[in-house]
Amino acid sequence: METERPSTSFPSFIAGKKNLKYLFFGGKGGVGKTAIAGATAHYLSEKLGRKTLISSTNPVHSLSSLFGQDLWKKGTQRIQGTKNLYANEIDISSTIERYKGEIKERLVQFLKFADIPVDVEPFIEIATTNPSFEESAMFDDMVDLILNEKYDAYVFDTAPVAHTYRLLGMSKVYNLWLNKMIRSREESMSLRAKLSFRKEKIIQELRKDPLLISLAGTKKKTEEARTLLTDSEKTAFFFVTLPLALPIAVIERFISWVQAFQIPVGGVIVNEVIPKADTEKLSPYVANRMQEQMGYLKLAEEKFPGMIRAVLPLYEKEVNGLEMVSRMAQSLSLGSESKI
Ligand SMILES: Nc1ncnc2c1ncn2[C@@H]1O[C@H](COP(=O)(O)OP(=O)(O)OP(=O)(O)O)[C@@H](O)[C@H]1O
Ligand SMILES: [Mg+2]
Repeated sequence: METERPSTSFPSFIAGKKNLKYLFFGGKGGVGKTAIAGATAHYLSEKLGRKTLISSTNPVHSLSSLFGQDLWKKGTQRIQGTKNLYANEIDISSTIERYKGEIKERLVQFLKFADIPVDVEPFIEIATTNPSFEESAMFDDMVDLILNEKYDAYVFDTAPVAHTYRLLGMSKVYNLWLNKMIRSREESMSLRAKLSFRKEKIIQELRKDPLLISLAGTKKKTEEARTLLTDSEKTAFFFVTLPLALPIAVIERFISWVQAFQIPVGGVIVNEVIPKADTEKLSPYVANRMQEQMGYLKLAEEKFPGMIRAVLPLYEKEVNGLEMVSRMAQSLSLGSESKI
């Protein structure tokens, strides 16, 4: 059993990680990941003055509605009314088109090298109807953003749990797949080299093989990303929950999954806690819900000892627009010590 440790509050955690650069948010659907990712990005950019990029790998246009600014198909945009906050809503459809094009190019090159005269279209169809295709395309896009190094901090509003889990899993699978492809490509080329009298020339050609260069490039990219994603100085994965049984159970499972991938856990944020009020003035419904929430808050503290970074109030309205985002950032800056 874990011993109880005092919680490091959100602002102290951030202050203690000087090189923290990649922040991710996970949790059950609808618990406030997008809102809290936005509030965190606001905290880092406006309070700490760090040039911050928030991006969403979620196919829903969530950042546009959070900031009340049309970000769709506009690449990276500065959020109006901020100095250092930028947002990028990843357009999955264009990523998929780009991906299809790349696959086609690779297949055509491969078939040409192997002297196989077939129509590539059915192969592309098979490759792109694979259920992990979207995830892998999104992962690729996320990696591109991570590696571009233009910002001091990158905040990712991640999609719901299972989806994120597959995204993380993809990095490993992708790597295995690429290693195998590269090996078999090298083997098939050296066989040709063995059969050829012009061995030197074939080896030279192998080095220029566009398929191999492209695969090696992708492999290098995913490896670099994995190195960053598993660096606890640079990366932190936060888990958002409500003071309720199901979302707590979900992040408990999610934390163990993420730890299995050696992804550093930044901590837990409990959202939508009903602010304290004079119980006598409350309706029985609200009074009961408050009572219930107290129990689940205690449960969260027991399940995630020393890991609760912030407890955020349930506001009287949705977190939409910069004013609400900044209000939530203010609550985040109070961390787990806030008296709601
Ligand atoms: N503390 C809060 N007080 C009031 N409303 C909130 C709070 N946190 C989030 N919300 C609202 O709850 C809804 C869900 O929040 P949000 O979209 O951030 O969740 P999510 O986890 O990103 O959802 P999804 O899994 O669908 O991406 C939104 O309408 C948001 O404005
Ligand atoms: Mg969301």
